[in-house]
Amino acid sequence: MIKGCIFDLDGVVVDTAKYHYLAWKRLANELGFEFTEKDNERLKGVSRMKSLEILLEIGNLSFDEETKLKLAEKKNNWYVQYISKMDESEILPGVKEFLSQLKENGYKIALGSVSKNAMIILENTNLKQYFDAIIDGNKVTKAKPDPEVFLKGAEELNLKPEECIVFEDAIAGIEAARRANMKVVGVGSKEILKDADMVIEGFKNVSVDIIKAL
Ligand code: G6P
Ligand code: MG
Repeated sequence: MIKGCIFDLDGVVVDTAKYHYLAWKRLANELGFEFTEKDNERLKGVSRMKSLEILLEIGNLSFDEETKLKLAEKKNNWYVQYISKMDESEILPGVKEFLSQLKENGYKIALGSVSKNAMIILENTNLKQYFDAIIDGNKVTKAKPDPEVFLKGAEELNLKPEECIVFEDAIAGIEAARRANMKVVGVGSKEILKDADMVIEGFKNVSVDIIKAL
C-alpha cells in the first residue's frame, strides 16, 4: 500500500530546470560551443560535477580538476542569481493543491533532490511546510540514477521503499526510483520518460486518485 510520495524538485515542483539550463548554456557559450535543450535532458537529475563532465564532453573539451571546480562554481553563481529572485509564482501549476490533498488524505511527503540549492528554493517559494522529510544534495553522496536519495527519503518518512511513489522529470531520476524499488510517475513528455509507470504533463487537475490508478 502506498503511504508516501517523494518529489524531485527541479522541473517537478518548481520551474527551475529552465534556470539550470540557462546557466549551463551560458557556460557552454562562454567556452565557445552550443548547448541545446536536447543535450540538457542528459543533465537533469545529475549532480553538478557530473553535469559539467557531460557538458565538457559535448563541447569536446577537457580541463584539470582545479579549472573544473572553478567552472562549476561559475555556473552555480549564475544559477543562484536566477533562483534568488524566485517566489511563489514559480511553483508549477497544481502542485500546491496536490500537496494539500496528499496531506488531507494522510500521505507522507518527502523531497528527493540532489541539488545543494534545494533549501533556498523551498524557502523562497514558501513550500517547506509541506514536507515531512527533506533530502537534498547536502545529505547524499551519490546522485541519480543511484537510488540513495529516494531510499533516504523513505527511511526519513519511516516507510518501506515499496510504500513510496516518486514524481520525477528526469530520465536519471526514473531509473533511480526503479532501482529503489518504487513506482514512479514521470512529469513531462511521454516520449522522453518512457520508463515511468505513468506520465503526467503536470499537476494541474491531478488528484490523489492517480495513486490508486498506479
Ligand atoms: C538537480 C537538477 C540538476 C542539477 C542537480 C544539482 O538534480 O535536476 O540539473 O545539476 O540538481 O544541483 P545543484 O543546485 O546542487 O547544482
Ligand atoms: Mg528534476
